[in-house]
Amino acid sequence: MSNNGVLPGPVDKSLPPPARRPRLLAIGGLGIFVILGLSLGLGLGLGLKHDDTSSIPDSSSLSPSSTSSPNATPTGAVLPGLTANGTAPALESWQLDTEREYVLDMAWNLTAPPQVRSYNLVITKDLGWPDGVVRDMLFLNGKFPGPLIEANIGDTLLVNVTNGLSDNSTSIHWHGLYQNGTNWFDGTTGVTQCGIPPGQSLLYNFTIENQFGTFWYHSHSGTQYLDGILGPLIIHAPEEAEVRKLYDTDRVVLVQDWYHDFSTVNLATYLEPENENTEPVPDNGLINGKNYFNCSSYGNDSGHTCYENSTYNVFNVEPNSRTRFRLINTGAFAEFDFSVDNHSLSVIEADSTLVNPHPIDRGQIHVAQRYSVVFEANQSTATNYWLRMSMITFCFTGTNPVLNSAMTAVISYSGSITIAPSNASVDWKDAYSVECHDLDPSNLVPAKAMLPPPATKFYRVDFSFGIGDYQLDRAKVNGTIWSPLANTTTLQETVMGLNSGNASSWSVDEQVGGALSSNNQFVLGVSSTGVEVIDVLVYSLDEGGHPFHLHGHSFWILETGSGPFNWTNYHTNLMPSNPDAVANPLRRDTLTINAFGWSVIRFVADNPGLWAFHCHIAWHMEAGLLMQFMSRADVLKSMAVPAHVMALCPSG
Ligand code: C2O
Repeated sequence: MSNNGVLPGPVDKSLPPPARRPRLLAIGGLGIFVILGLSLGLGLGLGLKHDDTSSIPDSSSLSPSSTSSPNATPTGAVLPGLTANGTAPALESWQLDTEREYVLDMAWNLTAPPQVRSYNLVITKDLGWPDGVVRDMLFLNGKFPGPLIEANIGDTLLVNVTNGLSDNSTSIHWHGLYQNGTNWFDGTTGVTQCGIPPGQSLLYNFTIENQFGTFWYHSHSGTQYLDGILGPLIIHAPEEAEVRKLYDTDRVVLVQDWYHDFSTVNLATYLEPENENTEPVPDNGLINGKNYFNCSSYGNDSGHTCYENSTYNVFNVEPNSRTRFRLINTGAFAEFDFSVDNHSLSVIEADSTLVNPHPIDRGQIHVAQRYSVVFEANQSTATNYWLRMSMITFCFTGTNPVLNSAMTAVISYSGSITIAPSNASVDWKDAYSVECHDLDPSNLVPAKAMLPPPATKFYRVDFSFGIGDYQLDRAKVNGTIWSPLANTTTLQETVMGLNSGNASSWSVDEQVGGALSSNNQFVLGVSSTGVEVIDVLVYSLDEGGHPFHLHGHSFWILETGSGPFNWTNYHTNLMPSNPDAVANPLRRDTLTINAFGWSVIRFVADNPGLWAFHCHIAWHMEAGLLMQFMSRADVLKSMAVPAHVMALCPSG
């Protein structure tokens, strides 16, 4: 990729003219453009309500027709924000060309000898308008979204992260990577490192072992990733050669909710006194960093500047080819229902676990999760098709009048990227979701079986939301409300404390609920000597679905349910690792805990360090919904945190 290892030039701080010379909307005006956008929206089902399926033809009657139809070029209505001349619109200087940069090279050498791969990431703040609405946002190497990082299993990644911000510290977390032996490069501010101060850099240096697949990276400092610090991270392996037989093209699709204000503004509103867990509702969503937004939604009194040049992301596909879409939800809050009109999809990967192909018409992807789906371009070339990414708004407490939750992108066989899909692009009849939950894990069978070893320890973790001190809305994990440690990290304190035989200001405890160092650090010391196999019953006392991520591990999903936990079943079937009960369950790193439900996960605590376990809804983590597991304290105490990591801390 062209941006590997290249430092960008200085970023112009003034508001540059957009590349497409858009008309700046006279707010409240109704130009031809807006009328066109509205009529398209009405005519093409963009305003589809969740229950509005009565008029949709039964898609089972659709049949592949590419063999009978010539490569017709679709004609018809022009997509909003695009001109009809059929050429791709110019990108803004800060827009990553994802149509090039997020298409993986099928000639990538899967069996290359292990090597060091170096990247630079420079974080800056500037104005951007991914959907036409101008706002402050954060950029990586001057671009949004961030560059694709790729490596092979066995490679060492050297990523030099430079904080070009003037006011905030930062860090980068490599979501899903094990970091076995390099806990201090996990990138979790307030847990494994102090934030990189403005003007400073940190060289992350770690080796990829025992895993490959679809990952992502993002800032792990507060809600910073919502403002733009995110990108895809793909690890290849020789085993990929086998799965490549299922597709001809391999590409990344980021999907996320999007807000027209800087994340700290929304966070402050959310955490305000007396606000009973009413999360900020997104203003829009983005697919590979862009989307259409109808500027007139803001009416007369918008505080926002809105360029009328926003448009849909368009994916070009070859007729009769098969594409692996690596879907990654890089958002803050929203889960999505995803589908492609007239085409079913085959799920082949969940997080980084390859699974036996599982056909779906529509699936769900929650925050921080990944799915690879194979798409076969086997329909008529006479139209373009909608890729639908519909936010599951039933999981929102509040509403937002400017939000069009029925997000779309366009799939084009013909390269006619400016032409809107015709009425021949037909949504599937499958109902849209009315709750936030995962694709059923029992349908996702790992292609490589790994039987979970019997558990040696069991913990129960309960979480809930409530009004805490000073009427502040906070989340609680076994009664604790997390906040990041500011001056030093728990890791460093652990290591220093253990080395000196004096774990000073905090302690770890193996008893559930008894692991408090304070009311804002809940650390379960799961293995002080040797490798333990840990079962965790995660119990939700909340009415929403919560995507929980465990750092540093993949876990097996042993059981999911609601209501009282069935202890008898656990003791007779799961605890002794009854092969019938737990044969080859799905492994992943981010799992939705259902509303008032529970799941039992199992992981092997072979990885020395402090590993965050948290709800990945950015608002909830900041409300305190994070705890930590400390593994292999016996090994940890002899591991030295590199001096350049220690030096980031005020005390370092
Ligand atoms: Cu995507 Cu704590 O991470």
